[in-house]
Amino acid sequence: MSFKRADLDFANLDFSYRKVNANIRYYYRNGKWDGGTLTNEEYFPLHIAATCVHYGQAIFEGLKVYETKNGDVVAFRPVENQKRMVKSAEKLFMARVTEEIFLEALDRVVNANKEFVPPYGSGASLYIRPLLIGISPHIGVKPSEDYLFMILVTPVGPYFKGGFKPVKMLVVEDLDRAAPFGLGDVKAAGNYAAGLRGYFRAKENNFTDVIYLDAKERKYIDESGPANFIAIMKDGTYTTPQSSSVLPSITNMSLRTIAKDDFGWKTEQRSVAIDEITNFSEAGCCGTAAVITPVGEIRYRDKDYKLFDQGRTAGPKVTQLYERLVKIQLGEVEDTRGWLRKIEIK
Ligand code: PLP
Ligand code: COI
Repeated sequence: MSFKRADLDFANLDFSYRKVNANIRYYYRNGKWDGGTLTNEEYFPLHIAATCVHYGQAIFEGLKVYETKNGDVVAFRPVENQKRMVKSAEKLFMARVTEEIFLEALDRVVNANKEFVPPYGSGASLYIRPLLIGISPHIGVKPSEDYLFMILVTPVGPYFKGGFKPVKMLVVEDLDRAAPFGLGDVKAAGNYAAGLRGYFRAKENNFTDVIYLDAKERKYIDESGPANFIAIMKDGTYTTPQSSSVLPSITNMSLRTIAKDDFGWKTEQRSVAIDEITNFSEAGCCGTAAVITPVGEIRYRDKDYKLFDQGRTAGPKVTQLYERLVKIQLGEVEDTRGWLRKIEIK
């Protein structure tokens, strides 16, 4: 596919918002979604009493669009994001965005911003941020009747500065992002506000981010603020926490499939005690934005645990996972599982 690209240094983008041509908006009113409108307006009108701002009826998603080796423009597993958005909506008593609307919105907004799809080989991607908010005015605590579903897109580079390089994580025991029966397993906007304390704690201490423990016993690893945690155990097993307060990551699910089916590794999703840290040979943080970022060092109770190569370089298994996932996303190896959804560029 050849189409004109924006005059941008795609290879050196960071993970930040950049103005593009258009975003798309669908309103849900009187129990029905409208036909959606593309607009170049970056602001939207909001009632002062809208439930999203007072009572947190705000959920979002994150996925990426790439140009593949053969020039197709593809989204990675977008239906999984739509399904997770429905789960988030159900938990917060919000309207559901159907698969049809989600995919139509994706096609339309990517087409409207096609010159911002980073070219194959640039290492960048078009980040897709679907957002759903309650817009009815209520001063009593109750769900909105009306909703606004929007998608913004923006070209991005790596989430963690430096890209595929080992990061240092700090385990916190006096901060939680989510409770066992709370909202940690859905993508509620408020979870990220709750995570800011951890983020600044990490930065103040020269770490990239924090790892949260389970909020009940503070014994088991949950996840990081913006990404799931995975460990490669000394016996080579791919191990990732099973917890009611962890967001089910589509990247983690994909990596588990790759590890098990493509590489023949043992994989497990179970409670992972922080005390097992001495049994980790490698670790990583994974998510759409983070892809898989090697974790080289973990501080827990004032002790620094260095993983592969004393945390200097990425371990072989995390590297293998990263390379295979990226190759699938870029169409460099065959997508045998239908993970890529082609977007017809008009
Ligand atoms: N955990 C949290 C808290 C996240 O915000 C994200 C990002 O979406 C993830 C994990 C990774 O999920 P996914 O791989 O679906 O992007
Ligand atoms: C993503 O990985 O897409 C996310 O939504 C995480 C976000 C904190 C950047």
